Amino acid sequence: MHIDDEARVHSVRRALREAGRIAVLTGAGISAESGIPTFRGTNGLWRKYRPEELASPSAFRRDPGLVWEWYDWRRGLVADTEPNPGHFALARLERSAADFTLITQNVDGLHDRAGSQNILKLHGDIWQVLCTGCGRRSRNTRVPLPELPPHCSCGGLLRPDIVWFGESLPQDVLQAAWSTSEAADVFMVIGTSALVQPAASLPLVAKESNACLIEINMEETALSPHADISLHGAAGELLPLLIPF
Ligand code: OAD
Repeated sequence: MHIDDEARVHSVRRALREAGRIAVLTGAGISAESGIPTFRGTNGLWRKYRPEELASPSAFRRDPGLVWEWYDWRRGLVADTEPNPGHFALARLERSAADFTLITQNVDGLHDRAGSQNILKLHGDIWQVLCTGCGRRSRNTRVPLPELPPHCSCGGLLRPDIVWFGESLPQDVLQAAWSTSEAADVFMVIGTSALVQPAASLPLVAKESNACLIEINMEETALSPHADISLHGAAGELLPLLIPF
């Protein structure tokens, strides 16, 4: 490891040890080493598929079967993966911190499986379904689904409980994420291109409220110039170094 990187690792460890309130924002990059494709990289999902044809209310109205086929495939992919050392390191950090909130854009549930508890899911959860008829939300982990598109016991069509393009985030979750960001002493942003709003604003909200902003990513992002400490590398390798306890 380069000497500068080593110094940064020590600075991050110290910042995490001394912080009263820690907030972390994760994106698809933290699950990349588990084998889940990101959205915008070279092999990113949005390079192969058009979001508006698969992840939007109009796509679902046009062809719910096609949308569900795509989610059924992704659910299968996620079911075959395991949390990686990055997810486990964050769960450890939560156990040792006085006040810790994990804000995630990911819908894969790998943070839950690694043992994280206090999670704000900005974009929903791939294992939750929502009835478009009666509005009931429920957990559904069957892979593959026996019926596509699936239906609720009320007869209504079920949809994935995920925030699609053109939809608003759940207001209570967003509000909680916003106030968590304002209150954070340390804000770590991990594996996100920081291109999707409003999630991309949260690190800046934290920074404006005087948090120490730490970024972990394979590459530079639009947030990098605002970070107090930037570490470039794989989250699954860096996080265990930053959170060795
Ligand atoms: P992106 O695919 O836009 O960005 C992934 C980021 O992770 C990139 O900046 C990569 O450089 C970085 N990365 C890749 N592998 C990494 C690794 N092993 N360690 C650290 N960093 C790594 O994914 P998001 O920013 O999460 O929305 O995308 C945000 C939202 O856009 C998603 O939640 C999804 C998508 O449309 C919905 O589905 C609503």
